Amino acid sequence: MPEAMTAPMGDGFDQMARDAVYRAMFTRRDVRSHFTPETIDDEVLARLLLAAHHAPSVGFMQPWNFIVIRGAARREKVRDLFLAAREQELPAIEEERQALYRKLKLEGICESALNICITCDRQRSKGSPLGRWHNPEMDLYSTVCAVQNFWLAARAEGIGVGWVSIIEPEALKRLLAIPEHVTPIAYLCVGRVSEFAPKPDLETHGWGRRLPLPELIMSETFCGQGETPLKSTIARLNTVAGSLASPADQRVAPAVPQREPSKEESALSLRSLNFDDASASRASQAGSGTWPAIVLK
Ligand SMILES: Cc1cc2nc3c(=O)[nH]c(=O)nc-3n(C[C@H](O)[C@H](O)[C@H](O)COP(=O)(O)O)c2cc1C
Repeated sequence: MPEAMTAPMGDGFDQMARDAVYRAMFTRRDVRSHFTPETIDDEVLARLLLAAHHAPSVGFMQPWNFIVIRGAARREKVRDLFLAAREQELPAIEEERQALYRKLKLEGICESALNICITCDRQRSKGSPLGRWHNPEMDLYSTVCAVQNFWLAARAEGIGVGWVSIIEPEALKRLLAIPEHVTPIAYLCVGRVSEFAPKPDLETHGWGRRLPLPELIMSETFCGQGETPLKSTIARLNTVAGSLASPADQRVAPAVPQREPSKEESALSLRSLNFDDASASRASQAGSGTWPAIVLK
């Protein structure tokens, strides 16, 4: 692994590195369309799996396994499970939304380069349930952390990931020979993509919208009022940067950025993080101005 991936960085990352982390988070997408036929090198897949394996886990339990599924026949069977599960889920959807639900593309099982099923071995630290005595489900949450690491690392590599949860878990376990004590957590479609959509597909298709963050923040107790300055700060960051999704960010990021952002884009995005013009200019000279510093969606 390159030294830069492992070297200690002191108190915090430099601005370029920090921007890159936020950029991965704000431009990550659940991808079901836009997969290209390209394969994924083992070198790249190995990096993604290493990122997943460095997730936090309760009691350092590392309860995950990663089943890599490449075979077309098996994937078709998984897609059949999806199709059946979608029919079963449909009646639970409000009647007036069922037509829209039917139209939504909710998986890319066969079109993606490969699938990965991330599982949680619930017995991995049997006998020493550090952190799970009162909260036994913490092993499941740990595995979800691994999924998120994988997803963010994939975004940074220009690789799309789509999580398919519309699958009957017992049927999936049979198909993948997953033992009884192991829980499938995430079935992921993974592949290179032609673009990352600027906003969630479900938003584009009118299914839902991102909730206003200030309305989700409480003070001291559940539903506690307060934190007004914090909420205003959030609202300001969102307003200034919300419309700034650079078209370049929606395409797959090239290894070498192909265009300089306009001065306006750089300045706006940097201001949205409370950088003044002097630090914006320093950042630009240091090279981080080749992309908007951050894109909030
Ligand atoms: C636990 C989990 C399960 C999901 N299951 C599905 C799914 O079965 N099909 C699908 O199309 N998207 C699925 N998604 C993706 C969400 O629809 C998506 O994250 C959300 O709409 C926001 O879009 P974004 O991820 O692009 O920001 C799932 C996401 C999570 C976290």
